[in-house]
Amino acid sequence: MSKNPNYTGGERFNKLSKKDGYRSRAAYKLKQINKVHNLIKQNQNILDIGCAPGSWIQVLKELTKGKASITGIDILPMAKIEGITFLQKDLLEIKDEDLNQLFDLVLSDIAPNLSGIGITDSENMIELLNIEIYLINKYLVKGGSFLAKCFQGSSFDYLKGYMKKNFKEVIRIKPEASRISSKECYLLGKFKE
Ligand SMILES: C[S@@+](CC[C@H](N)C(=O)[O-])C[C@H]1O[C@@H](n2cnc3c(N)ncnc32)[C@H](O)[C@@H]1O
Repeated sequence: MSKNPNYTGGERFNKLSKKDGYRSRAAYKLKQINKVHNLIKQNQNILDIGCAPGSWIQVLKELTKGKASITGIDILPMAKIEGITFLQKDLLEIKDEDLNQLFDLVLSDIAPNLSGIGITDSENMIELLNIEIYLINKYLVKGGSFLAKCFQGSSFDYLKGYMKKNFKEVIRIKPEASRISSKECYLLGKFKE
């Protein structure tokens, strides 16, 4: 194994995803999170924000044995996955009429294109989080859960502040498949109040 410390948190899972037939190594992030927190269940309505290329949707279908209603949103096209609803839309332009049901679980792996300029990247992430929060307030059922990517720093603080006020439990998660060197982490809000 490489001595590069990033290897354990990233490249190992790139190889594994090819072997296991997942569209990206992000699949393992969701699998690892779910193994501990047991979020994904059959018969749920699930929204996946920033879903392309689709590995979280592959995991959702696998873990629910196809018995969940799954909606994905991404600005990019996504190769077809049977039995799911895909909206190719910019999240910043999503309209109420685009979503016409409530969700038991909302997942978000969305991130803006990173410029490397800290303050710009944080502002762009917070802009996306504001739309996510709007969707959670409107479309996540009471008692439902919200898992969202953010970055250590102001977007983390912002999302944590929102979740603390609106969920019974808030948990920070850094899955093994997330590069150690990346500020990326996930916040899980369990049981919307
Ligand atoms: C890390 S990838 C998600 C990977 C996905 N979870 C998977 O398992 O395949 C982040 C996604 O967010 C999407 N994204 C970024 N900004 C967006 C926006 N404004 N509206 C919709 N999608 C956006 C990107 O196109 C990208 O596909």
